[in-house]
This record gives sequence, C-alpha cells and structure tokens, in this order.
Amino acid sequence: MKDFVLAPTLQALDAESLDLVRHAERALPTAHAPYSEFQVGAALLLDNGVIVAGTNQENAAYPSGMCAERVALFALASQYPGQVIRKLAVVARHQTGTELTPATCCGGCRQVMLEFEHRQGKPFEVVMQTEERQWVKAPSAQSLLPFCFTSSTLRAAKIN
Ligand code: THU
Repeated sequence: MKDFVLAPTLQALDAESLDLVRHAERALPTAHAPYSEFQVGAALLLDNGVIVAGTNQENAAYPSGMCAERVALFALASQYPGQVIRKLAVVARHQTGTELTPATCCGGCRQVMLEFEHRQGKPFEVVMQTEERQWVKAPSAQSLLPFCFTSSTLRAAKIN
C-alpha cells in the first residue's frame, strides 16, 4: 500500500485528478442502469490531453452488460488506437441520488486495465473513492492486482 496516495476529500486531490473525477461525474447521466440503479462513470486522461469517458451499460440479460471502466477502455482502443493512458478516474452515484457514492473498480475491470497497461508499456494512475469515503490514487493497475494472470502466464505454459 506504500505507493497509494489517500486524500480525505475530493478537494484534497491534485488538480488533474479532481478534474478527471469531475469528467467522470459529468458522464453519469449516460449510464444505462435500470436494474441495479447504480450509475458508474469512468474517465481516461490520455498523454495527449484527450479525455475519454464511459458509463455502465446494463442489459435485461444481466451478464450482457458492461462496466463503465471497460466501456471507456474499449472505446479508447477503438477510437484512439495507440494513445497512452495517463490516468483513470471512476465514480458512482445511485440513480435517485445527487451525491457520489464510494465505488472501487471490480476485479474484471482491474484485469482489463492491467492488459491496457501492458499494451502501452507504461503504468497509469487510478483514482477512486473507498468505502471509507477517502479518495485513493493508485500508481498503476498492476498495484491493484497482485499475483495477476497475464499474457506471459500463457506464454510460459507453451514453453514448459
Ligand atoms: N460497475 C461498474 O461499472 N464498474 C465497476 O467496477 C463495478 C460495477 C457496474 C456494473 C453494474 O452495471 C453496476 O455497476 C452494479 O454492479
């Protein structure tokens, strides 16, 4: 946990992170979350300054839906191939609420984030709100997924 930066409030975050959180928040109305009523917004800041946002998209056949982080990451890969991610922010709000509610990235999204990190050969920061309502800035996707499964796991199996 030593490289994780904790901020007690949103305003205590660095300006770049705060701005990205606000971008993720502004995307929330595009969430399609009629089943969970839990809206999630993700925003990616690229090295070239472009911001790509995504929101969760649910489906009546529940497993067919997609988390906000992956919606944003897959949009990035298809619309801005080769661009480098500097930071990801994720926020959530109940559909009927006005305030943000804590949400940290699910394991599936962490796995996808990790592969994006490997593809670009450079870590990116992840900003999100913990259950204790602190804001955490993780230095990388890797830091959120110890003992992870990667493409090198697959390669090692071929050699052995
Ligand atoms: N969700 C996300 O968008 N990101 C996460 O990291 C966790 C969960 C969404 C999926 C679903 O639409 C809703 O939140 C409730 O699980």
